[in-house]
Order: sequence, then structure tokens, then C-alpha cells
Amino acid sequence: MIDSPDNSPTAPHRFPDGFIWGAATSAYQVEGYPTADGGGPSIWHRFSHTPGMTHDGDTGDVACDQYHRIADDVRIMRELGLQSYRFSIAWGRIMPNGTGAVNDAGIGYYDRLVDLLLDNGIQPNATLYHWDLPEAIDNRGGWLNRDVASWFADYARTMYHALGDRVALWATLNEPWVVTDAGYLTGVHAPGHENLFEAPLASHNLLRAHGMAVQAYRAEVPASARSRIGIVVNIEPKYPASTSADDVAATLRANAYMNRQYLDPVFHGYYPEPLREIFGEAWPTHSDDDMALIRQPIDWLGVNYYTRAVTCNDPLALPVRAGRVTQREHAYTAMNWEVYPQGLTDTLTWIRDTYGEIPIYVTENGSAFYDPPTVEGDTLDDPLRVWYLRDHLRAVRRAIAAGVDVRGYYAWSLLDNFEWSAGYAKRFGIVHVDFATQKRTLKRSARVYADVIRTHGASLGG
Ligand code: FCB
Repeated sequence: MIDSPDNSPTAPHRFPDGFIWGAATSAYQVEGYPTADGGGPSIWHRFSHTPGMTHDGDTGDVACDQYHRIADDVRIMRELGLQSYRFSIAWGRIMPNGTGAVNDAGIGYYDRLVDLLLDNGIQPNATLYHWDLPEAIDNRGGWLNRDVASWFADYARTMYHALGDRVALWATLNEPWVVTDAGYLTGVHAPGHENLFEAPLASHNLLRAHGMAVQAYRAEVPASARSRIGIVVNIEPKYPASTSADDVAATLRANAYMNRQYLDPVFHGYYPEPLREIFGEAWPTHSDDDMALIRQPIDWLGVNYYTRAVTCNDPLALPVRAGRVTQREHAYTAMNWEVYPQGLTDTLTWIRDTYGEIPIYVTENGSAFYDPPTVEGDTLDDPLRVWYLRDHLRAVRRAIAAGVDVRGYYAWSLLDNFEWSAGYAKRFGIVHVDFATQKRTLKRSARVYADVIRTHGASLGG
């Protein structure tokens, strides 16, 4: 345990008063038993059960079994001093057919989770969609069907009524870019499509669904009971590999594709121009009504940050024609993602400079490094994750010092979990999970984070 010499409110290096310290997970990655108690299967259930789609054929059938162990996990959160828990709601537990009949047992699970968190002084931060689309909706076209927007709004409305009085922060979608790029363009995520024409349609319907869910929130939840609603995007800042005109142009394309594709419509009501060139004849036209729907005022923005991309022109890397240059002098995580903390500061200031003042939460940040499957003793030393965590928290503090309105930070992840197509092979947790026994062990990074929380950042030093 690193002790801070000075933990007074005026100690140097403390974060602003009210800054929230949290940790994040998502339903399919931690809960397990997705079809228990009347839940309907999702596209991730189907995808992970399809041979060859995930590492070693891993599935979320059991995952961290949080569905049955939520009381234990909240105890761990409390021990760490977490002030907020970001989780997602599995649409299929609530509406097994995606639309229509509501499954009370599904609502009951999240109802208990939210109460348990509040009883322990932990603010619930709920994401409505973290990639586990009900299979029944995919059977009707999934994100390619325009009707999905109103189905999502119906589901959202159901959740506002069930939990709206107790959830502090709502997010509509997690990382729409990954949903479309991995799900509809490269096919490495569910539903596993590889289709240039589908990707922009899915993106647009995701954004329409977001807009309708925000509208529903304003319409249904009385202003007096209102918390705040936003969206979570993943941002990977792009830096040109050289000053050549080709590399600079490739960097602008990559930034438009990955970072601006969702933020420009939400904040400005238009898509970035380079998308037209990137998608060519696959780029659809969009009505003014749709763009107005997408451009609903939001209360906060969630930013997930893991790495950056040093970008070069690469005519063969379609459709963006941008490549990534390995930085030999820098460390990489087990995901082969470059460790670049300054990219988080740059991301936060870029958002403020590009889209204006908005409360921002870093809704995910963390690292996978190798940890053994089983642990002896009460702590697992994970020095690389500790180093990653501390340097990224300092990067957040630099953004705050530069005047960016960052309100909180969520470590990804509370627990080692099902890392999508990488299965259980990549461990992001600050708490280790032995998947054979479900035993949880705090990693050193969890203890260091607890200390950061206790000292409100002062233990990070300068
Ligand atoms: C993000 C996802 C999250 C997790 C981390 C490592 O893209 O939102 O579920 O997989 O990456």
C-alpha cells in the first residue's frame, strides 16, 4: 500500500471535488447464464456458440457468474472504495423477444443490483446497449432494420420506468464504432457480417436508436427525477506517421471514420465529409429528419480510451486506406495496443475543442497483460497494469488542468472477464478471476486504485 503523506483537501495533486472513481463491466462479459429465468439469447450467445468465432470456443455461458455473485462483487467494490459502478443491461433479459412482453425476472435482477449498489454508497451508471442484441431482433434484420430504433426506445423506456428513479447516469450505446466495424465490416464480432454496404446503415440506425432513446428519456422521466443521459464512444487519437501529404490525409480519414463518425452527428447533426470518399457507392443519403433526431442534446459524454494510432497512408487497407505504424520505442499490451497515456489527455482536450463544453466521464480505460489463471495468496502483483493505470490517471489530471470538464474515471475492468472474440485469454481486471473456481483475488492494481480513491488522486504524486 502506497501511503500518501498528505490527504487533506488542499493536498497537491488531488482531483477536483466531486470527481467520481469507478470501475466498469458489461452484461455479457461478466454476468453468465444469459438465458436464465426467462432471458432471451443474444447475438453474442449465438456467435460465441458458433465454432471458430472465439478463442478456444469460449462463451459467456458462465463468465464471472456475476448473475449469482453480485452481492460478493459489490462487497469487493465497497472494499476498494468505488463510488460508481458502470454496468450494462442485457436487453434480452428484459425483453426475451427483443420487443413486446417484458420478463419481470430480468427487471428484478437489475432492480436488486441497483439497490445493492445504493445501499453501499455506490452510484449506478447503466448502459442500455453493450453489444448483446437480442437474437430475435437480429432475425428481423438487427441494426440494419430501421425499426430497431423504435424497438430500442421501447426497451429504454421500460428501463427508465423500472430504474429511472435510482440510476445516476444513463448511457444509450457503448461504442457504436465497434458495433459496426467489428460486427458488420470485418465480422470479428457478432453478428459476424463482412459487408461494406451494411456498415454505414448499421451505424445510422444505431445513432437513430440513440436519438429516440434520448427523446424517450426527456418525454417520460419527470424533470425532477431526472439523472443524466449520454452516449459512450471509443476514441483512438490518430497521429500522422510523417508530414507527407498522403500520411496526413490518411490520418484525417482514419479520424473521421473511427472518432468523428458518431460524434459529428450527435453534436453537429452531420456526418464527416471523408466518410463519403471512404464508403464510395456504399455511402447512403440521410434525411434531415434523421439527422435532427440524432442531434438530441445530451447531458454527458462517455469516452473509452485504450490506445492511439500512428497512421500512414496504405492504399491496400480498405476501406479507409490507412495503416498503423508500430512504435518500437513504446510498450504494447497483450492486445498489441500501444501504451500511450498522453493520447488520453489529447483525446479529452480534442473533444472539448471540437465539440464544446460537455461533462465527460472516462467510462473505460485499462490494460490486458498476462496474469496466471490461478493465484496463491491474497494479492496478485501486476506491475505493468499498475504502471498503465497510474500514468493514465495522471493523463486525466492533465486534461482537467487544461480546463476539460472531466467528471469521473472508470477502470476497465473490475474483473477479468469474457473479452469478446479473445475469450478468457485476455485479462483486463483489476480483480483476478479464477474461472475454474470463480475465486476473486485483488491484483496490486486494485489496491493501488483503492489508494488513489482514498487520497482522491494525491497518491499519484505529480
Ligand atoms: C472496449 C469494450 C469493452 C472491452 C474493452 C477491452 O472496446 O467496450 O467491452 O472489451 O474494449
